[in-house]
Amino acid sequence: MDVRIALTGFGNVGQGLATLLARRGKEYQEQLGVRVLITGVADRAGAVADSAGLDPEALLRAKIAGGSVVCLAGGEPELAGTAFLDATSADVLVEAASTNFETAEPGWGYVRNAMERGMDVVFASKGSLALHHRELMELARKRDRRVLYSATIGAPLPSLEIAERALIGTTITSFEGIVNATSHQILTVMAGGASYEDGVRQAQEMGIAETDPTLDVDGWDAAAKVTILANTIFDADLKISDVERTGIRGVTPEELRAAEAEGQTIKLVGRAERQDGTVKARVSPERRGLRDALGRLSGDDMGFVLFAEPLGKISTAVESSGSGGGITTAMTVLRDIFNLARERGWASTPRK
Ligand SMILES: NC(=O)c1ccc[n+]([C@@H]2O[C@H](COP(=O)([O-])OP(=O)(O)OC[C@H]3O[C@@H](n4cnc5c(N)ncnc54)[C@H](OP(=O)(O)O)[C@@H]3O)[C@@H](O)[C@H]2O)c1
Repeated sequence: MDVRIALTGFGNVGQGLATLLARRGKEYQEQLGVRVLITGVADRAGAVADSAGLDPEALLRAKIAGGSVVCLAGGEPELAGTAFLDATSADVLVEAASTNFETAEPGWGYVRNAMERGMDVVFASKGSLALHHRELMELARKRDRRVLYSATIGAPLPSLEIAERALIGTTITSFEGIVNATSHQILTVMAGGASYEDGVRQAQEMGIAETDPTLDVDGWDAAAKVTILANTIFDADLKISDVERTGIRGVTPEELRAAEAEGQTIKLVGRAERQDGTVKARVSPERRGLRDALGRLSGDDMGFVLFAEPLGKISTAVESSGSGGGITTAMTVLRDIFNLARERGWASTPRK
């Protein structure tokens, strides 16, 4: 069956999605019985929409050659907002635009409009979830819409899948994780003797740190992920500002050496726990043992640990997370779309 998606944002993630569909769309259709059609793409310069489906390769060529999807035949600089959503006739909005933690726009406006129009939403961007979780879930419930967001919390870590499916029926009391690959990479390089500045430079050369790495090194990105995870796992209503936050700028090579001399290391850890009916969340550098589930990780690895009664400590990790690689995140977005298709009965092939 066809699943029509409207895409807001056509950067690393949006282009990763188009690349995967161009390369493997037929394979997905054969394996899963789902044909994913991109029926609209919006970027900063405008949008293009065709309810019969756009050619992913043509979208990529237009973006690369002209800087915007507007360069594709049918592209319109003025097409945005509700007119864009209407023109796509899409079943699902994939929100993959740049975001911020003050207004969550442009995504938040698109998301509300999409749900009013009967669309389900799959997120790559975190703003709406980190600021408006309760309102978003309430709107989804009222409209009987689904909201999926596994890409927002450290794609490709299957954190929510474990919490919601593998641990169903248990009582999750707390979780902790290395959920920001960029700051982890910087700390790893510093542990090898480099300065903070060299660590940032190397991460930038690897393509995993932005020119301005503030969101990663000051813990904002990790705090957004902890907010989203805590709200989901504990049914809480945290905002990103509720997360106590210390980044890695203050960590010195001397502190890392001192930790190493004692058989430890320093990691930027995000954590949340339920305590007496309230949820407390924090992101901060922590000393960890070298054989610890998080302490043994390095580079741009990410890891996640849940404490669930009566099962105990459950951990998962992804090595060489490929952070900043749009393909990895795009694959996680697709995973959500495929699961949604199964749930909605759009997938015609039974689960293997
Ligand atoms: N990269 C990853 O691996 C990753 C992982 C998890 C989550 N995310 C999140 O996913 C989102 C996309 O990430 P990315 O790496 O693809 O970012 P990106 O490369 O910076 O691309 C952002 C896209 O958003 C578009 N955009 C900005 N303002 C817009 C507006 N008002 N209307 C429509 N489109 C608009 C940009 O348009 P132009 O192309 O015209 O500039 C661009 O195509 C971000 O929120 C990011 O935090 C990314």
